[in-house]
Amino acid sequence: MVPAKKKAVVLGATGMMGQKFVQLLANHPWLEVSAVAASDKSVGKPYAATVGGQIQRHVLDDLGDLQVVEATPRALDDPYIVFSALPTEVAGPIEEDFAKAGFPVFSNASSHRMDHDVPLLNPEVNAEHASLVEAQKRRTQWDGFIVANPNCTTAILSLSLKPLYDRFGLETVIVSTMQAISGAGYPGVASLDILENVIPFIRNEEEKVERETNKILGTPTKPATITVSASCQRVPTIHGHIEAVFAKTRTPTSPEEAAKSMSVGRLRRDSALNGIKYIVLGHNLVRGGAGCSILNAELLMAQKYIQ
Ligand SMILES: NC(=O)c1ccc[n+]([C@@H]2O[C@H](COP(=O)([O-])OP(=O)(O)OC[C@H]3O[C@@H](n4cnc5c(N)ncnc54)[C@H](OP(=O)(O)O)[C@@H]3O)[C@@H](O)[C@H]2O)c1
Repeated sequence: MVPAKKKAVVLGATGMMGQKFVQLLANHPWLEVSAVAASDKSVGKPYAATVGGQIQRHVLDDLGDLQVVEATPRALDDPYIVFSALPTEVAGPIEEDFAKAGFPVFSNASSHRMDHDVPLLNPEVNAEHASLVEAQKRRTQWDGFIVANPNCTTAILSLSLKPLYDRFGLETVIVSTMQAISGAGYPGVASLDILENVIPFIRNEEEKVERETNKILGTPTKPATITVSASCQRVPTIHGHIEAVFAKTRTPTSPEEAAKSMSVGRLRRDSALNGIKYIVLGHNLVRGGAGCSILNAELLMAQKYIQ
């Protein structure tokens, strides 16, 4: 017998990331979106009336009539898996309310990422951090829990660093990014600012990359000690972040040796750090953001943290 799908709610379902959640969860074998939540501005409206042109229209054939509800556990009658695409300014307490009420919460916001017992999970990189939810539940005494996924730039970076870290160790990582407009949400950056332009500043982004990379690559209880330096730029592409990475490994390596463990663009020697350098490209909403959160939920389900 095929097990029934688990119900999922997307908080912030009308935003850039929320719409990607709804789209990626369409036809998911284990999960189905049964509720969508957003701000007061959208509550009570049919979902189709609240979204822009970002979502694939066929997804709305099934879900367009769902009425948007408030982002509170009181709005839900059954157990749900919660995907949060809320802005950081409001996400923290709302996600806690859901976890307190017994829901597993998978968050895209930065509010809880650095809490010591909240897994900052990028499943191909640090699946073993999932066990932190046990410590979190002991501390909070909540029936539910919060799992965070990294900032999208860090998700892409840490995925590329993992094979180097495991095989050679890492001493220093310098990364310079070219980040797509969709990373700023919707409506995001004003068109007059970004058209034919590069914006050499993304608020809080460099700090997030520098601290999250060490939490992800460390053990569940001890961050790595890599010196990470990031410079983040917004460029006029729609989706996908390109990152130019310069890495000094603890055990010296060559591009040829590194290529036995990883497959990325333009892997070559870096003479400034006496290390290697390469280019990596990832989809900020699929490899970071919503896609990473859904992978996290699949992992926690497979590991029986969600029954
Ligand atoms: N875009 C990316 O590539 C990316 C990558 C990684 C992480 N993130 C993170 O993902 C989160 C969402 O980003 P986004 O780009 O999707 O933002 P966004 O497009 O601005 O969407 C924000 C969503 O949150 C809802 N919302 C706002 N205030 C609310 C409140 N007080 N109560 C309930 N819902 C509220 C909005 O609903 P209304 O439409 O009703 O206002 C909307 O659905 C952020 O924490 C961001 O940092 C984004």
